[in-house]
Formats: sequence, structure tokens, C-alpha cells
Amino acid sequence: MRASNIGRVGLRPRVGESIPPNLLPGLNSRVPVKIIFNSLPRHQTFSSSVAESTLKLVYEFDPQIPVEEAVTPPSSWYTDPAFYSFELDQVFYKGWQAVGYTDQIKESYDYFTGRLGNVEFVVCRDSDGKIHAFHNVCRHHASLLAYGSGKKTCFVCPYHGWTYSLVGSLLKAPRSTGLKKFDPREFGLVPIKVATWGPFVIINLSTSQHEADNDNYENDWLGSSSELLSAGGVDSSLSYVGRREYIIECNWKVFCDNYLDGGYHVPYAHKNLASGLNLGTYTTEDDKDFIERSLEDSEQVQVEDIILCEGVQRGIESPAYSSGRYAPTVEKAMHHFHCLLYRSLRGENLSS
Ligand code: FES
Repeated sequence: MRASNIGRVGLRPRVGESIPPNLLPGLNSRVPVKIIFNSLPRHQTFSSSVAESTLKLVYEFDPQIPVEEAVTPPSSWYTDPAFYSFELDQVFYKGWQAVGYTDQIKESYDYFTGRLGNVEFVVCRDSDGKIHAFHNVCRHHASLLAYGSGKKTCFVCPYHGWTYSLVGSLLKAPRSTGLKKFDPREFGLVPIKVATWGPFVIINLSTSQHEADNDNYENDWLGSSSELLSAGGVDSSLSYVGRREYIIECNWKVFCDNYLDGGYHVPYAHKNLASGLNLGTYTTEDDKDFIERSLEDSEQVQVEDIILCEGVQRGIESPAYSSGRYAPTVEKAMHHFHCLLYRSLRGENLSS
């Protein structure tokens, strides 16, 4: 999904006067606030004025207000490029993120690639069956190294042929004769911390030594939900069927909000889905025809949701909109998501 960084910030009064220094986590104990640009995790410190104005936007949402009285986060959360960069750093480049499925790297030499925020990565299984993840960037002149998914015994850069093993070491640098002060051992692929939980492959882009040393990934990623999800068979009963990618011209949260409105939009926007849904008769089937039908239905719902989300994004960018309200009986999950996001943006550890 492409986050929209285009468009104007809504004409909206600022809520609250000034923010007490102890409520500016990016400006005291946790300085410097960092953002990541380009393919490698190159950190750039926010100027304090940018950090302060971005944090002011965070505090325009008040998670203490109950859902019945709460207003949704301001439109700037969905339109401001600096806010989006801040989210990447605070939410996606910290902690564990699911990026694929173990079935995609079932056997030795399997690999798949992806992009998390602005960070290109490749996940592979080496000849001994061990899983690795790396920044998918050649150490010569930064070409992307691998594309898509498949099987490889090594990664050969498509640009000038530098070649890396599946454990990340530089095996070959063609025509490098005469190169001085060059130790190939220092030019391996940059590793990323990787783990699996049930059918999911998760990676952690954090460069903080504390997080990188932390092997308690199950709790870090899912918190107390991991036991509940295990009890429901999520870590043992799901198998990989396929993957589809969609480009949606909206901020990532518009899509999350759409999913978290408790089915509020289904009777209006997914009429076919609504007419075929009968929650009382849900069963689990291992049936190819059923899977095919489900994929077709899902495609239709996806296309309908894309139209909705892109319409919402355009509306959010309008000067007529600043923030909205929740329908308390159905949109509790959306409110919860906004409260969790608020805590992440403050730098809180959600698993503690
Ligand atoms: S950029 Fe990869 S070999 Fe030159």
C-alpha cells in the first residue's frame, strides 16, 4: 500500500495549548527521534522543531476519552508527510513485523523479497535449513539484489555481478583486482533479525542493541494475545495458498480503519458479501473449490474496499474535514487501534 503523502493538511484548530516537556518522549529521554530514508536504515535526526510539531499532532488525539465521546484522530495523521515518517520510525522500524509465511521458505534455497516502509529485505533458507533475513541491497552500489521469490543457491547482483551466499557473505566481487583497503568480510549483506511464529515469518528492523538482543519475540510481537491465538489454532492450522499485492492510494491507517469498523460498512459497500454471510454456519473446509470461491469473493471485496479507502483518503485531504466520531457499538476495535497507535507514537512498549 502506498501511503499518501500528498495533499493539504486540513484547516483545523490545534487542540490544547502547549505540551509539557515530560510528554515529549522524542525530545527528552528518547532523543534523537529518527526517521529512515532510502533502502538502508540510514537514520536522520529530526530537527527539534519538526519533532515538536509532529508530536503536537500526536497529542491532538486523546485516548483517555471513552469511545462514546471520543473524536477520531485529526486528518493530519493521515496526510502529513512528517507524521508518516515518524510512524515508520516509531511503529514499523521498531519491534517485530510479520512479512511472510514459513511455507514461502519451506525448503533450503527458497527465498522471498519484500519492502517494509522504505526498507527492502530478502528472507531465505540456507543449505542447512537455517532462516536468514538481510537488507536486499548490494554493498557495491546499492542495487536491489533479489526480486520476487523462488530458489537460489546464492544472490548475484544484476548490476555488476557481486555475489553473496545465503548466509550473507560476499563470495565474489568481479574485476576488483587492484582494490586496496578492502576486506570482503566487511562487505557481506546487512543482516536483519528474523524469527518465526506458527506460519508467520517476522522480522525486526530495530538497530537498538537492547531490542536486537531480545529473543522474547513472541511476547514482543503479540503480547498476551499469543496464548489466545495459539488456543484458537492460528499458529498451527493456517496454510499458505497465495499472495496478492494491491496498490491503494491512501494512508495505511485508512485501510486498517476500514477493516476495524466491525462490519459497519459491509451491508452498504459489500452487498454480495453481506447476502452470502451467515456467521452461524461457519465451518473449516479443506476444499479446493471452496478455496477458489473464497479467493474470488475476496478479490471482489478487495476491489470494493480499494474504492472506499481511496474515497476516504480524498475526503480526509479536504479542508472541510478535521476529525470524525466513532459508532460505539461497532467501531470499538478502531478506537482501540488508534489508542494503541497513540501509545506507540509516544514510544511506549505495548507488550509490557
Ligand atoms: S551494484 Fe551490485 S555489483 Fe554493482
